[in-house]
Amino acid sequence: MADTTLSPDAPATELPATDLPGGQTVTAVKHWSDQLFSFRLTRPASLRFRSGEFVMIGLMGENGRPLLRAYSIASPFWDEELEFYSIKVPDGPLTSRLQNIKIGDQVIVKTKPTGTLILDALLPGKRLFLISTGTGIAPFAALIRDPGVYEAYDQVILTHTCRKKEELAYGFDLVEQTKADPLVGEEATEKLLHYATTTREPSQYEGRITDLMRSGKVYEDLGTPPLTGDDRVMICGSMALNLDVKDICAAVGLDEGSVARPGQFVVEKSFVGDDTRLS
Ligand code: A2P
Repeated sequence: MADTTLSPDAPATELPATDLPGGQTVTAVKHWSDQLFSFRLTRPASLRFRSGEFVMIGLMGENGRPLLRAYSIASPFWDEELEFYSIKVPDGPLTSRLQNIKIGDQVIVKTKPTGTLILDALLPGKRLFLISTGTGIAPFAALIRDPGVYEAYDQVILTHTCRKKEELAYGFDLVEQTKADPLVGEEATEKLLHYATTTREPSQYEGRITDLMRSGKVYEDLGTPPLTGDDRVMICGSMALNLDVKDICAAVGLDEGSVARPGQFVVEKSFVGDDTRLS
């Protein structure tokens, strides 16, 4: 459904400052590039969620109706605050305004979390592969900071593929912080592997993750055996990426799971700020 609640040209200055119904206060904003930013909000007391889930968040539209989009929560279930990672769509009804939020502003957070990228949707396995492109890393940012991941798996392999190097920065910072975290740092240092690749600019590792899995290069680079039927996989990227990685999973005999029926891999399309999929 096309969004009609707010003109794309609406100025960002109309952010309500205080006391939005369901409003949470911005506690931090970081701009990673011209196109990417992350922010932290106070957490509604009534919001309980599982690491990897998403919620609807947004701003009040000019017509007094909330303008909401699905966003993966990038912080783990135990965090006192909520973190989100977003692209900036120049004419996007929500992100053209959301990108201008400042500490102290309010963002609406709905308290009905949902999603497939949760530990409970997977049957027990040896290693966990987290395959992401772009902002699809957000749910995995929550999961790699969840101690349950390290209890359940011997090794956790986070891959992140973007067009350009600057788009990888959030992931590098995330992994560094995770390895220094008092709660999960020790286990993450031992078990978490991070593999970041670019497709349209030179960097340490280059190419689509699908090609690198098929050729075996990712496994050689990481010093870990190729994907097998004993492993579990979570996938979060564009529709095309998701379908291609699903094929790779199926080729080693992995079956897709869901929250209702846990399986060996799970998939979710990454939510890009102004995606209207759930509208
Ligand atoms: P590529 O540059 O070769 O298209 P986007 O910005 O379009 O969402 O893409 C994010 C990243 O995901 C890009 O590096 C892109 O590579 C990669 N990508 C897109 N589609 C696929 C796919 N079907 N399989 C593997 N990687 C993909």
